[in-house]
Amino acid sequence: MKEKVLVIHGPNLNMLGKREPEKYGTSTLDEINADIEAHCRKLDIEVQAFQSNHEGTIVEKIQQARDDFDAVIINPAAYTHTSVAIRDAVLLLDIPVIEIHLSNIYKREPFRHKSMLCDVVTGQIAGFGIYGYVMAIDAVDNIFKAQARS
Ligand code: DQA
Repeated sequence: MKEKVLVIHGPNLNMLGKREPEKYGTSTLDEINADIEAHCRKLDIEVQAFQSNHEGTIVEKIQQARDDFDAVIINPAAYTHTSVAIRDAVLLLDIPVIEIHLSNIYKREPFRHKSMLCDVVTGQIAGFGIYGYVMAIDAVDNIFKAQARS
């Protein structure tokens, strides 16, 4: 059976392409999702991409992942720095969770240096632009393969 990965894009990421391209690049979210799907196809991973601007909607989607997915890749966007609710939802999961940021949040304003998730996720990828999503998929694929061997 194929492994299933949920990719969650947080607030304002639906505006990628138009939004601060010098920080976030010029690709649209649809283009990023197409790249994610293509990479998952190569690795025989099933993927679902989801975007919301609403904290509670993201919390509900993470809760669903408990039953429906084998790993989560999440860019919580601005909620990274504020959301105890998203942190608590991630704590409900016993599957790999990768936190990803397009920009290197540690090179930016001090309020972005703090992630509410960094100590409850499997790992974090930041600063590699859209290539970070490919890295995150490779990371979960690696974990799946290690799990299959053990
Ligand atoms: C971001 C970084 C966050 O600080 C910011 O609020 C975002 C995007 C990133 O991908 O670099 O919306 O998560």
